[in-house]
Formats: sequence, structure tokens, C-alpha cells
Amino acid sequence: MNSQTPTTPLEQLQDAFHFLGRFLTRPGTIGSIWPSSRQLGEAMIDKLLMKSGDVVVEYGPGTGSFTRVLREHMPSGVEYLGIEHDRELHQKLVVRFPGMRFHHGSAEETPEILNHYRLGRAKLVVSGLPFANMPPSLQERILRATSSSLHPHGTFRTFTYLLSTLNPSTIHFRRLVSEHFEKHQGSRTVIQNFPPARVLSYSNPSSKL
Ligand SMILES: C[S@@+](CC[C@H](N)C(=O)[O-])C[C@H]1O[C@@H](n2cnc3c(N)ncnc32)[C@H](O)[C@@H]1O
Repeated sequence: MNSQTPTTPLEQLQDAFHFLGRFLTRPGTIGSIWPSSRQLGEAMIDKLLMKSGDVVVEYGPGTGSFTRVLREHMPSGVEYLGIEHDRELHQKLVVRFPGMRFHHGSAEETPEILNHYRLGRAKLVVSGLPFANMPPSLQERILRATSSSLHPHGTFRTFTYLLSTLNPSTIHFRRLVSEHFEKHQGSRTVIQNFPPARVLSYSNPSSKL
């Protein structure tokens, strides 16, 4: 999994325009006007140990900013599954990252999707989803699907934008996520990202819900 396909400046520009176009037409599903930075991608998997046989799930890989970083750090034998809701982006991912598995669907369906590919519980779920732009019911369904798909010692990583810290939807999301996981492993701010973001890390999916 360590082969690297460099992204050309033209591809980066195309990705940025693709994002902007999607943001203008469907802001709720993209949640950002610009793809995430490499620094945010690195922070999303900082200090995580992945080993052969582990299942790693990525929500909303989009144009692949986190996928690229994951691919570089995953040892061979890791079972990667990217779940992307946007049909066109899903097709691009399949072409751009040959050998990696991408499912066209929604993160709400993670348990069924893992089952479909005969994969066990995930050791790591990395989310690029725009939770703050989602209605509370969708946040809840995705978090429920995540906690029931995660290995008891697995980790869930997500991020929020600093600018949206006081947004009621972000506050609701942070309350909800702490109900679904028993342990909040901390957060890390990435100011080099545009816009600056905070990585949130959770473990020990709650069995009470
Ligand atoms: C903010 S973009 C993040 C893309 C990329 N990870 C990044 O950080 O640059 C959000 C992505 O989540 C996808 N998405 C939105 N809702 C989703 C859902 N319910 N399930 C899976 N993917 C979803 C969007 O299509 C989009 O590609």
C-alpha cells in the first residue's frame, strides 16, 4: 500500500474547482470550499498504529486528500474501505487510487457495507464528513453506525472547523459524539489548514446506546 501516485498541479486545481462547484450547489454534503490540506491529513492519523489485517474505514474521501496520506502510512495487508456519497467523486477515487476499495453509499450504512465486503469491525474510522452541516438526525444515524462498526479498541477520528466551534450544530455534534464514545482521546488544532481545523479523537464505542 505504499506506492505513491503524485497529484499533478492540474489535478489539484481541478479538485479545488470540483469542490467549489459542489459546495455552491450542495453545501450540506461537501461542507467546505477547499479540499483538506496534507497537514490535516497527517494530523488525522497521528500516533495511530495500523497493522496487517486491520480494517480502516474512511468516510467521505472526496478528492482523496486523506486517502493519499492513509495510503502512504498503511502497511500492506490493511483492509481499506472508503465510503463516498457523491457518485462522480466515487468514480474519480476508483480511477485515482487503483487497488483501494471504494463504496458508493452513505456512512449511515457502514455496518451493512462492512458486511457486504465480509469485513470485520474497523480498527480505525477516519471521517472527512461535514458533520456541522448535517441535520441532527443524520449526525445521530452516522454516529450510531460508527460506534456499532468500530472494534472495542478502535479509534474514531473526525474534525471540525475552528470557525464553527460555537455553531449550534457543532455543539450538538460534539455532545452527541461524546455520548457514543466513552473516551475522548483529545484534540489537536491544525492552523495550516484552510480553514483552520481541530482534529477530534475518540475510542471505546459505548455499549449503552
Ligand atoms: C468536506 S468533504 C471532505 C473530502 C476530503 N476528505 C477532504 O477532507 O478534502 C466531505 C465529503 O463527504 C462526502 N459525504 C457527505 N455526506 C456523506 C455521507 N453521508 N456518506 C459518505 N460520504 C459523504 C461528500 O460527498 C464529500 O466528498
